[in-house]
Amino acid sequence: MYAAPKAQSGAPKPISIGDLLSFKRQARKFSVITAYDVSAAAIADRAGAPVLLVGDSLGMVVLGYETTLPVTLDDMVRHSAAVVRGRTRALVVADLPFLSYSTPDMAVASAGRLMQEAGVQAVKLEGGGVMVPTVRHLVQLGIPVMGHLGYTPQSTHQIGLKVQGKDIETARQLLQDALALEAAGAFAIVLELIPALLAEAISKRLTIPTIGIGAGPGCDAQVQVWHDLLGLSPHAPRHAKRFAELGELMADAIRAYCEEVEAGVFPTEANSSRIHADVLESALGE
Ligand code: KIV
Repeated sequence: MYAAPKAQSGAPKPISIGDLLSFKRQARKFSVITAYDVSAAAIADRAGAPVLLVGDSLGMVVLGYETTLPVTLDDMVRHSAAVVRGRTRALVVADLPFLSYSTPDMAVASAGRLMQEAGVQAVKLEGGGVMVPTVRHLVQLGIPVMGHLGYTPQSTHQIGLKVQGKDIETARQLLQDALALEAAGAFAIVLELIPALLAEAISKRLTIPTIGIGAGPGCDAQVQVWHDLLGLSPHAPRHAKRFAELGELMADAIRAYCEEVEAGVFPTEANSSRIHADVLESALGE
């Protein structure tokens, strides 16, 4: 777990993009976890996660859609704002949702809402070469950008949910895209579902951190989806590890609650408030 340096007041110093770049220089691995609401953000922050990603995986794990495509900018702003309210130290990055950054001007407007209304510190967008002018434009305006290459869920209907970069041409293209995003000013790049050795080779050629998901241990950082990591999704993908079975724990707690209500065991006096008998009598006109 990342041990936060203390600010002068004694409170942990908030994580900056500069910190992530210095982790890369020091070959120090770090973790990213998705979060979508205030309580998740507070828990992850307390646990020491340095970066919270308000991913548009929100669409599937919170809103129940099949893909990320229906997620709107309003959805992202609302959930990102909740995450920002819950954290004190972690850096918060929010996804630009599908079709909210089709032109550089649209990207500025969308990222502007996420930064000004929600208070996130950076945005993430999917895509390689074609997104380079947009990334450069955002960065020039002071908007930090995280790239996302490999399996890019917003293009799922075009590329299919499968490992990307398995042949010479697509592997070479991924490396070129990563270098181009770095040159355009991206501060980190998510590599999703690409072969481990390719991810490692790309990571070695970049000065910015790579953040892997289904891309093996050779990345500089890893990202996991909250629900997969904590056992809240019915079936997690192969690249996810369930570090707890909170879904089971929650179901047990809810079962116990239902049983206690049905048996008249909950609530007790300790969970209730009082009124003087004479006040009640007068109120009831007795
Ligand atoms: O939306 C998301 O959660 C993501 C991560 C899986 C990288 O983009």
